Amino acid sequence: MKKILLTGALGQIGTELTEKLRDVYGVDNVVATDIRETDHPVVNNGHFELLDVTDANAMGEIAKKYQVDTIIHLAALLSATAEAKPLLAWNLNMGGLVNALEVSRELNCQFFTPSSIGAFGPDTPKNQTPQDTIQRPTTMYGVNKVAGELLCDYYHHKFGVDTRGLRFPGLISYVAPPGGGTTDYAVEIYYKAIENGAYTSYINKGTYMDMMYMPDALNAIVNLMEADPANLKHRNSFNVTAMSIEPEMVAAEIRKHIPSFTMDYNVDPVRQGIADSWPDSIDPTAATEEWGFKAEYDLAKMTQDMLTKLKSKLA
Ligand code: SER
Repeated sequence: MKKILLTGALGQIGTELTEKLRDVYGVDNVVATDIRETDHPVVNNGHFELLDVTDANAMGEIAKKYQVDTIIHLAALLSATAEAKPLLAWNLNMGGLVNALEVSRELNCQFFTPSSIGAFGPDTPKNQTPQDTIQRPTTMYGVNKVAGELLCDYYHHKFGVDTRGLRFPGLISYVAPPGGGTTDYAVEIYYKAIENGAYTSYINKGTYMDMMYMPDALNAIVNLMEADPANLKHRNSFNVTAMSIEPEMVAAEIRKHIPSFTMDYNVDPVRQGIADSWPDSIDPTAATEEWGFKAEYDLAKMTQDMLTKLKSKLA
């Protein structure tokens, strides 16, 4: 990764990844793009271009203008939004992906895009879900993710594009909100704990899903992209996770810092249904063995950091 183009740079991952890549590779070597332009450090503190990822020509022009050698394609609709707008999700998630892969093929770029725990479905083994297993998701988002994993492997085998990906769990962060995901409760709960001392969860108690704190997710992207290709038996995409948790566990951890915190439930059947179709916990052994994946933050360490950072952000 020497000169990197990001799509979806104003999203939950992109906002923080842009900053990290500017730190690691130099401001001049990172080109952030998004469909919207806001008054934000991602836009103001380095190269930024407006880009609708469904416009293949525009994407190619920007990649050529900056002579990029790496594309990190993040622009996508998350699971709950995709369920509400399935056709839009197909067009954006798959259209954007194939455009980004085509530009990577033409310009010989290394390529990264996230997959998700959403690439699994109700037939998948629920606990310690293996790297290679049944993938028959029942959501549009999951259909997009499985098709995307296959398409990325295809571009590698067929055209030699250096495609790499991670099956992210729910990502928890305090900088930019996720928006439209099933795992978003695990971000909202921290905001509401500080703002109101109370949270109403749309995901039911006892519903386990994998999660990871954003600093671990950013490190995982950089480490995977820097990994020696000779060591990669898998490519699209690696299981990664830091914790398997359910709402009561997060609430209990928050109460260690805010003893009066209360939580009740108003379960959203759509997002609960999506969560129920996903694994309770996935097994990241392949990522650990093939490129040294390791997460630094468990629930306790993440909660401490989230509450500290959010308190100063919301003050
Ligand atoms: N966080 C995502 C979602 O909930 C999962 O990849 O949609």
